[in-house]
Amino acid sequence: MTAHIIDGKFFAKQLREELKGKISDCHAAPQLAVIWVGDNEASAVYVSSKQKAAQEVGIACELFHFSADASEADVLTLIERLNMEREVNGIIVQLPLPKHFHERHILEAIRTDKDVDAFKQVMSGALWQNSAPWASATPQGVLKLIKTVLSDLTGKHAIVIGRSNIVGKPMAALLLNEDCTVTIAHSKTVDLPTLVQKADIVVAACGQPRLVKKEWIKPGAVVIDVGITKVDGRLVGDVDFENVKEVAAALTPVPGGVGPMTVAMLLQNTYTAYLKQKDSL
Ligand code: GUN
Repeated sequence: MTAHIIDGKFFAKQLREELKGKISDCHAAPQLAVIWVGDNEASAVYVSSKQKAAQEVGIACELFHFSADASEADVLTLIERLNMEREVNGIIVQLPLPKHFHERHILEAIRTDKDVDAFKQVMSGALWQNSAPWASATPQGVLKLIKTVLSDLTGKHAIVIGRSNIVGKPMAALLLNEDCTVTIAHSKTVDLPTLVQKADIVVAACGQPRLVKKEWIKPGAVVIDVGITKVDGRLVGDVDFENVKEVAAALTPVPGGVGPMTVAMLLQNTYTAYLKQKDSL
């Protein structure tokens, strides 16, 4: 058997086209503010792909770029202003922030109904109680990709490898909300291969290039690779793609799998925030 390769680029494009149609009916364009501090090379790529995709679907995206020596106060002042601007529907702060920043101070300053990355603690709590208005973009994109190959997730055994606040934890909550039985594995997990062998759905999000091996995969499992590590100038996922594709039923490539979905889901969250804010006027 060779796995069906889940084409994230295709599904992301489809989602952007749907959004473009919906946004063209809007009275005014939804607005997204992107705050970027410093000059991290990967962030430059992410920020520019967010801007480009926003423009494509008709979301007005304004970038606020601070130098790496900016202070927390500078950024907090901007967030307070954007919180109050009625036309601004979504605010994101590109991570990572420079070392002298307290990430929590900054993220928690964003008004909850504009937190389109869903990184605030209150958004995370709401997700675990299955009452969040939206979830973080990457795990939401992963769930969409899983649903392109599995119509009913009820009772499936899912394993999430990685417990970050941005991906692993919200991913586990989303899968639990779909009635999966969820295992969260991490760097201290004992006997990871045995746990992965039980899983119908494997989400690898630990940043360890090619960690997940063919022998770990239950034949017919759906495997989603969130990893992106640069190795010898190439982007490599957390899954040993070439071998795992011989046993999995479906598998995402790196690049071209989860990455494009993340950007599309951020735009969807911005549109949802726009609709909710309009309704509450
Ligand atoms: N850094 C890595 N991933 C993300 C993301 O999804 N959003 C933001 N704001 N920063 C990130």
